[in-house]
Order: sequence, then C-alpha cells, then structure tokens
Amino acid sequence: MNVLLIGSGGRENALAYKIAQSKLLDKLFIAPGNPGTKLLGENVAIKLNDFYSVYDFCLINKIELVVVGPEQPLVEGISDFLRQKGIKVFGPDKSAAEIEASKSFAKSLMSNYNIPTASYAEFNSSKLTEAKDYIKEQKFPCVIKADGLAAGKGVLICNNIMESEKAVEEIFVEKVFGSSGDKLIIEEFMTGEEASIFAITDGDDYICLPSAQDHKRIGNGDTGKNTGGMGAYSPAPIVTDEILSEVENKIIKPTLNALKNENRKFIGCLYCGLMLTAEGVKVVEFNCRFGDPETQAVLPLLEGDFLKLLYSAASGNLDKSSVKYSGGSAVCVVAASKGYPDSYEKGFEITGIQSMENDVIVFHAGTKEINRKILTNGGRVLGVTAVVNDNNLKKAKEKAYIALRKINFKNIYYRSDIADKALKH
Ligand code: AMP
Ligand code: GLY
Repeated sequence: MNVLLIGSGGRENALAYKIAQSKLLDKLFIAPGNPGTKLLGENVAIKLNDFYSVYDFCLINKIELVVVGPEQPLVEGISDFLRQKGIKVFGPDKSAAEIEASKSFAKSLMSNYNIPTASYAEFNSSKLTEAKDYIKEQKFPCVIKADGLAAGKGVLICNNIMESEKAVEEIFVEKVFGSSGDKLIIEEFMTGEEASIFAITDGDDYICLPSAQDHKRIGNGDTGKNTGGMGAYSPAPIVTDEILSEVENKIIKPTLNALKNENRKFIGCLYCGLMLTAEGVKVVEFNCRFGDPETQAVLPLLEGDFLKLLYSAASGNLDKSSVKYSGGSAVCVVAASKGYPDSYEKGFEITGIQSMENDVIVFHAGTKEINRKILTNGGRVLGVTAVVNDNNLKKAKEKAYIALRKINFKNIYYRSDIADKALKH
C-alpha cells in the first residue's frame, strides 16, 4: 500500500524508519519530511493546513493510510476530514484529540471517570481574583498550567504565593500563551519518577508498546529549563509488569472507555505521561500522538510489522499480533544546538552521520540539506539511538555516546546522563 506520513521531526523519522521496513509498503510519502525521512521515502510539499490539498494528494497517489505525527493537524481536524472522505487515518478525530488540546477537558474526563491524577481547580480569565484566592490555600510547590497547546511550555511549577500569582498574571494578563491561556488549571504537585506509555488503539482494543522515559530538562541531573525532550530510553525498568497492569486497569482501559462513552472514540496512539507516586500511578498528561523523543527509542525495539499495526488500528480492527517486543534496550540521545531551548544559531554542517555502526540509528529532527550537505536547522538537531539485543541499558547508553562522539557540528550540545536514572536502580 501507499502511505502518507505527516510531520517533519525526529518522531516522524522514527515512524518512517519502521513503516519503511514493512512488507505491506509500496511507497511512503512524507509531508514535509526532513533529510532523514528522504532516505526512507519521498518527501513531498503539501499545504497541510489545506485539507483539500492533502485529500487530492491521497487520491492522485492512491494513498491507503495517512499517519499523522504531530498534534497540531489532529487538533485542527485533519483525521475527521479525511475519514469523512473514506481515507483511513492513524490519528484521532478532533474531538478525541482534545485530550491533549485542552487540559481542562482531560482533567474533567479523569475526574468524572475516576482516573488517578493530581487534584486540581480550573479558572477562566475572568476569574483572576478567584484564582489568586485559591492559590493562598494551596501547598507549595503547586503547578499552574495553561489549558491549551503551548509547545510543551505551558506548565509552570511555582514555589510560593508570589511565583504563583506571577504565573497567573502572565497567563491571564500578559497572555504569554495567547488564547491557550484563556483558561488555566492549578494542580497539586506530585512527586515520583515519570514514565511514558504508548497505547496503540482502534478505539476499542489496544496494545501497549514498551515503556520509556523522557528527559525534559536541558541540563544533566534534570536541571535547567524544560525542553521538547533531550533523550529517552526504553524500556523503563521502573515500569514493572505489576505497574503496567495498574496503568492498564486504572488508566488506559477507563480512559478509552470514557472517550468512547463521550462519543469521542480515540483511534491512534494515546500517550500516557505518568508519575509513579507513593499513592500509585497517576496521570501527568495525555497526548494524542506518539511522544518525542520516546518514539525514537521505543520503535527500534519492535519486531513484526509496524505498518500492519497502524493500518489495523485505523481500520477499526486492531491486530495485536502484528508487533511484539521480546527483549532488548534502546537509548536515544538528542544532539541539540547550544543555546536551545532559548535562541541558538543554525546552518552549520553536520559530519560523521554516515560512519555509524550497526544498531545505531541517526534520526533527523532539525536538519536541512543543501548541495548534498546536511546542515543544522533547529534546536534539536538529531536523535542518536543505540539498540542492543539484551536488556542492558548500560551497554546501549555506552554505544549511543560512542556514536555521538563521531558526530560533529559547530555548537553541538547534548546531555551526558541519558538513562542514568534507570541505571541507578
Ligand atoms: P506536561 O507538559 O503536562 O507534561 O508537564 C511538563 C512537565 O511538568 C512534566 O513532565 C512534569 O515533569 C511536570 N509536571 C506537570 N504536572 C505536574 C504535577 N502535577 N506535579 C509535578 N510535576 C508536574
Ligand atoms: N516527550 C513528550 C512529548 O512528546 O510531549
């Protein structure tokens, strides 16, 4: 079959890498793709915000499955549009994607269906005084979140009343998150280790891919600013079989049922961002798509036919035997541009990508190709994933860092402690 994959980051490079391995695939198109996906299919320029252009492309190129990588087109309703036209899509409708697009919706769903998460209150921008009064009764730190999408920046952890009032004013008065901050939630601060689980679902049935852990902060030891993610490993040893069954029974099953019950059946990848607290596993956030960079660590561990899995989910008939995980570990380290997540320079030549050993995959995130040279073109430039066959994260980590030392570009920066949290256990 011909497949159209939408997106241009490291996640999409990893999705393309797995889809390209499928025996079912005739031709893979990636819109817009990046220099990494170009090696796995054909990058195409389609106006993604014009759904009719996407539909025309599908007709002309006999596309049988559209896989949507990022949240934005999902939240804008690309799946609804294409499904109505009879095209199979891996990715939820707009109404189900709201689980990521509106924290207020996600929290009230969890609250109504008894899905464990931090306790919270919600305020809209006309309730500035009420929000400030509520803060005075809270324990600190507390967590203040803009309701809508904010490119991973909409979460503020506040240590006292002053910081919390400042956060509320930034969101409501200065509008630092624009209309995403028309509402906010104030949440209890949870402590524990975080883990991510992807549930691939046709809306009724699901399978979980191997667990993972992201590293959101820019600096070693989880210090400094939040980023889009500086590395990940999979599986995460803290997610034992016992914890996984708690996640399935208390979180994934009830959430999929709740969405179905609310007429928002979810087809795609439900990303569960979890906190393993002393009181049990709780939800930090849901996303309506694969997580990045976790996808770059999780997918290389899967055996079987990943495209078959996505196609079966999109067809409403999930084939749970299409992929399996039977051991192995992966570590993905993100090579970034110095200065990220603030300002950084770009346009520097990247060398050394070609000289990789087997079982090391270099995924492109922020790169561009000019005159056959690969140049840096973003904050997160590459994701370097090392895979080993046995359950040996230490070996995978070493392999990833040996590979990274062969890669060069001006202002390269990466954390040197990806996976250390797991190795400590
Ligand atoms: P989110 O964008 O909702 O994933 O939040 C970004 C990060 O903020 C999470 O990965 C957590 O590290 C942290 N965070 C969010 N909510 C909470 C919470 N209620 N308690 C503690 N940390 C949180
Ligand atoms: N890794 C977190 C995210 O994709 O949002």
